[in-house]
Amino acid sequence: MDKFVIKGGNRLTGDIYVSGAKNAAVAIIPAVILSDEPCVLENVPKISDVSIGLKILAEMGASVNMIDDTTFRIDATNLVNSEVPYEMARKMRASYYFLGACLGKFGKAMVSMPGGCPLGDRPIDMHLKSFEVLGSKNDIINGVVNVECDHLYGGHIYFDKVSVGATMNAILASVKADGLTIIENAAREPHIVDLANFLNSMGADIMGAGTDVIKVRGVKHLRGTTYSIVPDQIEAGTYMIAAAATHGDVMIRNVIPKHLESITAKLIKIGVNVEEYDDAVRVWTTRPLVKTNVKTSPHPGFPTDMQPQIATLLTLVDGPSLVTETIWDSRFAYVEELRRMGANITIDGKVAIIEGTGKLNGAPVKACDLRAGAALIIAGLAADGITEIEDIHHIERGYQDMDGKLRGIGADIEKRYFPGESSIKTCGA
Ligand code: EPZ
Repeated sequence: MDKFVIKGGNRLTGDIYVSGAKNAAVAIIPAVILSDEPCVLENVPKISDVSIGLKILAEMGASVNMIDDTTFRIDATNLVNSEVPYEMARKMRASYYFLGACLGKFGKAMVSMPGGCPLGDRPIDMHLKSFEVLGSKNDIINGVVNVECDHLYGGHIYFDKVSVGATMNAILASVKADGLTIIENAAREPHIVDLANFLNSMGADIMGAGTDVIKVRGVKHLRGTTYSIVPDQIEAGTYMIAAAATHGDVMIRNVIPKHLESITAKLIKIGVNVEEYDDAVRVWTTRPLVKTNVKTSPHPGFPTDMQPQIATLLTLVDGPSLVTETIWDSRFAYVEELRRMGANITIDGKVAIIEGTGKLNGAPVKACDLRAGAALIIAGLAADGITEIEDIHHIERGYQDMDGKLRGIGADIEKRYFPGESSIKTCGA
């Protein structure tokens, strides 16, 4: 089994470069299906969720050519198959974007119920509701979601809850529908805007992405395009917190500072210095950090995908701090792992009460999901002693070369293979 082995205590200093956004790339890759011509995608993150998406496209008959590590030419114009291979689709959450893309292109799609991080209940009712508004008939048979319609007509979609995935899928399904689609209570994340920008670069007519009302006027034809994926807001935030946790001084490059505003504001409140440049942020500390409270909420609020990371930082400052998770039912599985490192955290429903002890001790721990794994890396970097993290495939789903990038700014971290070891611990046990 592969593990990350970290010797804590090094201050992180220097320049680290952020890759393209996972949560944009996993939607834009299926969206290529909607194009009537080949597309070139640049700044594609080299992560396993992207590899799965590209493999699914190839399985469906698209030609996928790697131009370089992060650039791909994709020709999905000869795609006739609107079925996504079951075993591949269930490996990740974002496979459900193939539903919206194939429905928008072919008027039908068959995709297994999605997989993804175990964060509690993750229904797709709002995705299906948006397809129904556009005229689709949906059912789920043997774990496979079937959507089909003779003709897609624009409609008025209102989401009871803010949903990134459902907003993305509503855009994908409506971009070639007849007439106007209005999406209300839409998610506003940067990756939603990136999907809309990608589709508009192909000739789509999408207005209002990034606000809570998105209007999509259906078009008949979508031409090919060359498009560069937006920088990853959550990867950037993760490295900002790693710099703060090690009292380092790090320039995080290839970012859009505006996307980081809620993270920056929270770090400044904790006593971290943050300076913004055109496409970079500098993060460093000059004084003891102080406790604060954090509540996750949809963009532009504090991202839920940064919750495990900020909670880890707060274990290192004198508490108590409160972290409230409002998006997911159970996103605190990493807490048990932090307790193995000496953290003093009590969970009360959706609230983690963190009695910051100012330090952590290295220990063998397990990555329960993508962002929990990133949080454990931050913990290991700041801890006294050695931390071994297992199940690091979760981390490699969403972070390109995280250990290599961190070594580049002084971290003592390496990926090591442990033959014969199998994962026995269960998360949060
Ligand atoms: C996306 O998940 C991200 N994943 C998640 O990031 C992120 O945590 C989440 O958005 C919130 O920002 C991808 O983009 C691939 P939602 P998604 O639909 O789309 C409920 C990471 O670490 N809901 O915005 O699945 C849902 O249960 C991952 O990169 C319904 O009830 O999230 C949740 O409580 C983890 N019905 C809330 O809405 C639905 O049909 C928000 O979920 C859909 C969602």
